[in-house]
Amino acid sequence: MEYIKLNNGVIMPQIGFGTIGLTDEVEANEVILNAINAGYRLFDTAQGYGNEAIVGQAIKNSPIPRSELFITTKLWLADATYEKAKLSIQGSLDRLQLDYIDLFLIHHPYNDIYGAYRALTEFYKAGKIRAIGVSNLYPDRLIDFVKFNEITPQVNQVEIHLLHQQDNAIEIMNKYSVQAQAWMPLARGHKAIFENPYVQTLAAKYNKTVGQIALRFLVQKGVALVMKTTKKERMLENMDVYDFMLTDDEMLELKKLDTKNSIVFSHKDPAQVERFAAWERKY
Ligand SMILES: NC(=O)c1ccc[n+]([C@@H]2O[C@H](COP(=O)([O-])OP(=O)(O)OC[C@H]3O[C@@H](n4cnc5c(N)ncnc54)[C@H](OP(=O)(O)O)[C@@H]3O)[C@@H](O)[C@H]2O)c1
Repeated sequence: MEYIKLNNGVIMPQIGFGTIGLTDEVEANEVILNAINAGYRLFDTAQGYGNEAIVGQAIKNSPIPRSELFITTKLWLADATYEKAKLSIQGSLDRLQLDYIDLFLIHHPYNDIYGAYRALTEFYKAGKIRAIGVSNLYPDRLIDFVKFNEITPQVNQVEIHLLHQQDNAIEIMNKYSVQAQAWMPLARGHKAIFENPYVQTLAAKYNKTVGQIALRFLVQKGVALVMKTTKKERMLENMDVYDFMLTDDEMLELKKLDTKNSIVFSHKDPAQVERFAAWERKY
């Protein structure tokens, strides 16, 4: 596993383990323990996933010392105001049964994210959060956010994969020293990647899988990522991407897969904003 140094000096594993959908206590405990045994140290949860308590318990059950783990969670969008965030952040600490959280992100670019960020900043200064950041901030909003907050976010977690490569967004994150972290880095197994003959050729050339080529592409660009699998063999496979290097020509050829669009939704789509705003509280 390789680590990335964030703009405040905190060290973060480049590849992390996502927990979206893990809401069954028995399954989540088994999956997370398997992931820890496979070598994962970063676990990505969110208030909106409704599983902070389950993830926290699984971490407590693990044989690995807390100090070696890196736990990320995200603020529920209805709690993204200064006052609500203060209660909500403490709620995450309690549900996760942790004295500190490694990375706390504002999940979506809605509501009073500036007020929420002031609350995050207070917990950060009090040593209850080691790194703070945002998620799903597109370049224009990110620049505004960096310019008008005391602390530059350490991370911006956004959709990045071969079909939505986000070169412009990553360039702007790099410019402002905000670490890009990809969500859905495998595009959830999308056939435009997994059945693509060129990607299959690369997999054969390096004796790797298509999934490993997809992840290697991101790792090689210096992007951090959180992926998810429930399968033990894929846990090992998805971390095993550091013993080969794609050539410049291959990176350029893979660039051609970029559709420059999300494969799920845009946070700027009015209908999507309405859907998010109507989401029921999960915790
Ligand atoms: N910030 C945000 O707004 C946001 C949004 C979405 C997600 N996330 C985070 O990002 C994490 C990852 O995203 P995701 O779970 O949506 O997508 P993903 O990691 O791109 O894909 C997960 C899917 O791909 C399959 N898979 C895993 N490894 C594979 C491999 N080597 N080959 C083929 N298929 C493979 C998994 O199935 P199996 O289980 O069968 O292996 C699963 O169905 C989430 O768990 C969550 O923590 C954040």
